[in-house]
Amino acid sequence: MEKTERNAPCWCGSGKKYKYCHSAFDDKLKKFAAEPYPVPTRDLIKNEEQIEGIRASSKINIAVLDYVAEHIRMGMTTAEIDEMVYQKTTELGGVPAPLNYRGFPCSCCVSVNSVVCHGIPDDATYLENGDIVNVDISTIYNGYYSDSSRMFLIGDVNEEARRLVEVTKKSLEVGLKEVAPWKRLGDMGAAIHEYILQNGYTVVKEIGGHGVGLEFHEEPFVSYVSKRGTEMLLVPGMVFTIEPMVNMGADAIFIDEEDDWTVYTEDGSLSAQWEITVLVTEDGYEILTY
Ligand code: MF3
Ligand code: CO
Repeated sequence: MEKTERNAPCWCGSGKKYKYCHSAFDDKLKKFAAEPYPVPTRDLIKNEEQIEGIRASSKINIAVLDYVAEHIRMGMTTAEIDEMVYQKTTELGGVPAPLNYRGFPCSCCVSVNSVVCHGIPDDATYLENGDIVNVDISTIYNGYYSDSSRMFLIGDVNEEARRLVEVTKKSLEVGLKEVAPWKRLGDMGAAIHEYILQNGYTVVKEIGGHGVGLEFHEEPFVSYVSKRGTEMLLVPGMVFTIEPMVNMGADAIFIDEEDDWTVYTEDGSLSAQWEITVLVTEDGYEILTY
């Protein structure tokens, strides 16, 4: 940790003197830094201006998901969803973050049934009666990133699949109860994992959430199979996603060898995911995207 002179401007960019701003915070952080698990670096702690930027980006992200929610229909191709996401995002002044990200060819991910995540929209995949579909949207606005995803039920979805989708959604609330400053991130992942296992499902281990805001994917990696008391310390100003991937069968997954993106359940069982972005505040959290 760099040392800041007490009367110098605070490193957070607030414009306040350090001694009146993050000085006490740094002292507190120092104690936690002695523990075996990481504390956030300063670039992971967003200031008011950056938070405002992420909020504005999030607003677009939510509006695009709302638009998809209104228009998604049985018989539509996943490419048509992608087209909607591109049109709506750009109409609102944003840029779809996935487009050309590490070679990703589309504006969003659409993951149907046994696709866990990172499904690439195409014009051969039609939404069919009974499908459960995740649409994952990420937006860049004014240089700030936001990220969220929702599940959609197509036509008559059977009771079993609906329960998977509901339990996965509920798990976010369970995780949120563990999000507060000076707690460990591992508590959140552990709470989600326990809840999912109690409901008879499994959680994907290899892929998780991430810090977000100034970049698409920032530290920390956010696991939903973590142990209590482990992982990064949560402090006010951190922004990260909660996005567990929940399988009806085994937790094992594989990646499509042809496209190098699409993630499937190994056993072909259904998989569900919901994603929100949260800000750690002085007394808990604020939901930025849903
Ligand atoms: N929300 C997803 C994630 O954070 C979006 C992936 S977009 C992709 O992983 F381009 F990386 F596929
Ligand atoms: Co994400």
